[in-house]
Amino acid sequence: MITGKILGTGSYVPPRVMDNDDMARIVDTNDEWIRERTGIGRRHIAENETTSYMATRAALRAIEQSGIAPEEIEMVIVATSSSETIYPCAACEVQREIKAENAVGYDLNGACTGFVLAFNTAQAYISAGLYRTILVIGAESMSHMVNWTDRSTCILFGDGAGAVVLRAQEGEPVRMAAHSDGEKGPALKGLSRHRKDWDCKDSDKDAYIRMDGQGVFKFAVRKVPEIIEEILEQSDVSLEDIEYFILHQANRRIIEAVAKRLKTDISRFPMNLEEYANTSAATVPILLDEMNRKGMFKRGQKLMMAGFGAGLTWAGCLFEW
Ligand code: ACO
Repeated sequence: MITGKILGTGSYVPPRVMDNDDMARIVDTNDEWIRERTGIGRRHIAENETTSYMATRAALRAIEQSGIAPEEIEMVIVATSSSETIYPCAACEVQREIKAENAVGYDLNGACTGFVLAFNTAQAYISAGLYRTILVIGAESMSHMVNWTDRSTCILFGDGAGAVVLRAQEGEPVRMAAHSDGEKGPALKGLSRHRKDWDCKDSDKDAYIRMDGQGVFKFAVRKVPEIIEEILEQSDVSLEDIEYFILHQANRRIIEAVAKRLKTDISRFPMNLEEYANTSAATVPILLDEMNRKGMFKRGQKLMMAGFGAGLTWAGCLFEW
C-alpha cells in the first residue's frame, strides 16, 4: 500500500514570550488560575512575524531535515484560520519563499482541527497515487484574533507554526476519520476583523473570538476518545499498540480527561502547552517536531493524532512513523 511517510519536521515560534504574569498586567487574571484551569504557563506572540513568515520558517526546517530539494514538493497545504491575508493564500506565499516552483498551494481552514484535516487530505492524495511529495503546515497568528480585554479567551492562545514533509512510500495504510457538527458552531466563533458586527450583539462587538468554554470542554472530552476508538476499529491495532497520542494542545485538563476515558496512562499523551498555549492548527505539528528532534520516534511506531475545535470539527489519524 502506498502511504505518506514523514521525511522531516520543522517548527517556528516567535521569540517574544508573554508569561502568565504578563497577562495579569493586561486583564484581571493570575498565574495560579491559568495554570490550574489550563496548564498554560507562557505563550509566544508574533510582533512583525506574519502567519506565512512563520509557516515558511517551519517549512524550511522540515525541508532541511528531509534532505529533499524544494522543487520536489508537488503540493503545499497550510492549515490556518488566522492568516493576515485571505489571498494570496499563505500556502502560495510559502511556495514562493521556499522556491517550490513545481508545487500547487492552498490553505485549509479547519480551525484547531486544521492540521489533522490537512495531513489526512495529503495522505488521501498520496495513497490515490496523485502526488508523491507534499508539505503540510499548520500556522496561526491567534494573537491577532483574540480580544485582549476578554480574560476568558485571551489567556488561552499563542502564535506559531509547524510543518511536515510527506513522501509516498510502501507502508501500512493511514487510518483516519473526521466529523463536523455545525449545529454546535456557535460554541466557538472567530470573527473577521472586517465583519465585527456580524451576528454579534452590541455588547460583544469587539470580540474576535467568542467561546462557550465549558461547552467546548465537554465536546472535546467526549468526541476525542470516540474518534480514537472509531479509527482503531478500522484496523487490527489496539489502544495498547499506540506509542503516543498526539492531541491538539488546547488544555491540559482536556488531555487528562481523554487519557482517563481511554484508561490509558497520561505519559503516552505528550504535552507542550505550558510553553506555547493553544496555537490552534499549529499545536500538533509543533509537538510532532519537538518530539522528533528529541529522538522520541522510531520507524514502525504507531502514532495517533487528533484535533478538535471550531466548526465544531474533530478529526484523527493513525499512522506509522
Ligand atoms: N482569570 C481568572 N478568572 C477567570 C478567567 C481568567 N483568565 N477567566 C474566567 N475567569 C473566571 C470567570 O469569570 C468565572 O468567575 P465567576 O465564578 O465569578 O463567574 C470563573 O473564573 C470560572 O469560569 P469558567 O468559565 O466556569 O471556568 P472554567 O473552569 O470553565 O475554565 C476554560 C475556563 C479554561 C476556558 C475552560 O472552560 C476550558 O478550557 N474550556 C475549553 C476551551 C478550549 O480549550 N477552547 C479551545 C479549544 S478549541 C480551539 O482550540 C479553538
